[in-house]
Amino acid sequence: MGAPTRIGLAGLGVMGENFALNIAEKGFPISVYNITTPRIDETVERAKREGNLPVYGFSDPEAFVRSIQRPRFIILLIKAGSPVDQTIKTLSVFMDKGDCIIDGGNEWYENTERREREMAELGISYLGMGVSGGEEGARCGPSLMPGGSAEAYKNVEDILLKVAAQVPESGPCVTYIGEGGSGNFVKMVHNGIEYGDMQLIAEAYDVLKSVGKLSNEELQEVFLEWNKGELLSFLIEITGEIFGIKDDKGNGFLVDKVLDKTGMKGTGKWTVQQAADLSIAAPTIASSLDSRFLSGLKEERVEAARIFNSIEIGDVLEKQTVDKKRLVEDVRKALYASKICSYAQGMNLIRAKSIEKGWNLKLGEIARIWKGGCIIRAVFLDRIKKAYDRSPDLASLLVDPEFAKEVIDRQSAWRRVVCLAINAGISAPGMTSSLAYFDTYRRESLPANLVQAQRDYFGAHTYERIDMPGSFHTEWFKIAKQPRR
Ligand code: 6PG
Repeated sequence: MGAPTRIGLAGLGVMGENFALNIAEKGFPISVYNITTPRIDETVERAKREGNLPVYGFSDPEAFVRSIQRPRFIILLIKAGSPVDQTIKTLSVFMDKGDCIIDGGNEWYENTERREREMAELGISYLGMGVSGGEEGARCGPSLMPGGSAEAYKNVEDILLKVAAQVPESGPCVTYIGEGGSGNFVKMVHNGIEYGDMQLIAEAYDVLKSVGKLSNEELQEVFLEWNKGELLSFLIEITGEIFGIKDDKGNGFLVDKVLDKTGMKGTGKWTVQQAADLSIAAPTIASSLDSRFLSGLKEERVEAARIFNSIEIGDVLEKQTVDKKRLVEDVRKALYASKICSYAQGMNLIRAKSIEKGWNLKLGEIARIWKGGCIIRAVFLDRIKKAYDRSPDLASLLVDPEFAKEVIDRQSAWRRVVCLAINAGISAPGMTSSLAYFDTYRRESLPANLVQAQRDYFGAHTYERIDMPGSFHTEWFKIAKQPRR
């Protein structure tokens, strides 16, 4: 290696290795560092095999830092939390004023803000950058959500624009998100939405399989078909592919052999916690999280199934005569309408946080950079972008005229699917809670008057009236307990 490299990357796990190769392939010589040497050698070897890409490996942190041109940019792709603090400690001692650290992990946004403050004391700038797209995205073009120092972003923008996923007519899937931990926050909500999408798809599968009795071959056909229309997306595409994979260790299809327990790393949980903190209703995302919790109780569910799988529910399923074609159409519409609700919740959460933190986040621009590279990439995101372009202050995606019309057109099918699932004893919490969200949001009057009356009754919490301004309290107890005349 002669001249200094343009950028550095620490952490050669699956994401780090692939992202380093992507950067090198776009013409930016890169230094890579890892605590274990074999990974460094493997990465450098792979770079050679994939076309002599300019990737230079270092096991010594000082040599690694010094090999990068100044001002230095070092991307971290390591496990969020204390490993990031450890690596920053190791590397920052060799870094100079004006250098920059870019954390590309799924980090809690407040950790990024703390590190930004700590690094500022050393004159080092900091970016927390959401990276989505898994292994393939990292190698071929992820969606990037960088937040933090705007000045640092400008200095590394040329690289990020080239390595991000490129979407025709809408550009590279990267934009400066905003200050502080906003990049991590937006990535966190992306993951919450990802949980919601996956749950809704799983429910569509459950209804089609359990009520419609569709085989894996039929399911594959349905998903391939769905992927040509409004549901076109990465997750629908891979779901269709999953139904076609045969079990290499036995008979039948692999999907039927996978244990029904969903794992998680926590970003969906943070999304729901943040939604609660900001008083944003996010029931679709919350139900996807609850479903993962319940899926984990496999042994308990086996026992409960023994107790509760009553003959009546079995009968409903047996006796059901279903028109498969109509069911497929209804489920497609229910899935789409529920998806609108889920994204409305995610976008509202981003907006609420943006207001709280003064981040000034651009929802349309965020939808744009999710159009390619990331796990939730979908044709649908273009519609969301257009909705926010039409009206940046849109109260909810549900009231955008185009989305409103789509929901109206699909609501009968949506209700049919939810009723069908409930009557058949199949839980479809994502679709059900999305419909409840829609039905609550669209009603001028709710039974909240009664809850407020109860609060005032037992706690003197006061209430407002519909016919006059002010705050009122009634001695409900005294009036109610007066002897009736
Ligand atoms: C992405 C993914 C990625 C990861 C999730 C999975 O955008 O590329 O979201 O970040 O797959 O963290 O999350 P769970 O393990 O919690 O399902």
